[in-house]
Amino acid sequence: MHNDETKAFLAAAAAGLAYNAPLGDDRVRDLNRRLAPTGTGWRALDLGCGSGELLLRLCTAFDLPGDGVERDAADVERAAGRAKERGAADRVTFHCANAADWTQPAALVVNVGAGYAWGDTGQALAALHRLTHAGGKLLFADAIYRTTPSDEVRALFGDLPDLATMAQSAVAAGFRPLHIAESTLAEWDDFESDWRAGIERLGTPAARAFADQRRADYLGGYRDVVGFGWLILTPV
Ligand SMILES: C[S@@+](CC[C@H](N)C(=O)[O-])C[C@H]1O[C@@H](n2cnc3c(N)ncnc32)[C@H](O)[C@@H]1O
Repeated sequence: MHNDETKAFLAAAAAGLAYNAPLGDDRVRDLNRRLAPTGTGWRALDLGCGSGELLLRLCTAFDLPGDGVERDAADVERAAGRAKERGAADRVTFHCANAADWTQPAALVVNVGAGYAWGDTGQALAALHRLTHAGGKLLFADAIYRTTPSDEVRALFGDLPDLATMAQSAVAAGFRPLHIAESTLAEWDDFESDWRAGIERLGTPAARAFADQRRADYLGGYRDVVGFGWLILTPV
């Protein structure tokens, strides 16, 4: 569990980000193309949606209704504000709730960096299979190990699958993979810099020390060791 000071730093980091994940504009465009609905009457559902940017992009691009589920109240407020700004508040609703309690399935389901809401990768994919309509699509993205981590990196990130194991878990959960990719190192470098920038803006010695530690952990430890896998899946 994080103490209050750490929680405040994490909130400051998240507040300045469009996406709280190593996700660049090219991938967003590519995902939008690949996640296009293949039928009528689709609804989108983003579980652990952060400040809602990806869900809003999808709903806007395909004129879909949608639900975003996020446990952090400040993120939900930001997401609702963005929906209003874009004229989507009448059809995209953000819920401050535990994703693991959500039971209403959808045709287009998104879960980026929040699989831990259900436990490990296998448990997350099993839950997401129950929430994705037959013939629909799931975007599942999460951290992976690209190479064997040092003891220090493993202490930070715990047990993670590699990309092949993540894809195999998806198949075992009852999905067929439509697309498999990994964040680039440039996406990671941008994400880490943007994440630290939110903390730097606080400008206090404690905030700088926190940012220094994160930078050291990244550059001296998990850079190019921890990756981020992107799976587009369809349930069978
Ligand atoms: C790494 S961030 C990714 C946010 C968003 N998907 C994105 O790509 O910008 C993970 C998000 O999942 C949310 N989260 C984690 N566990 C959750 C749960 N049980 N219910 C709802 N949201 C959860 C966190 O608050 C955080 O906003």
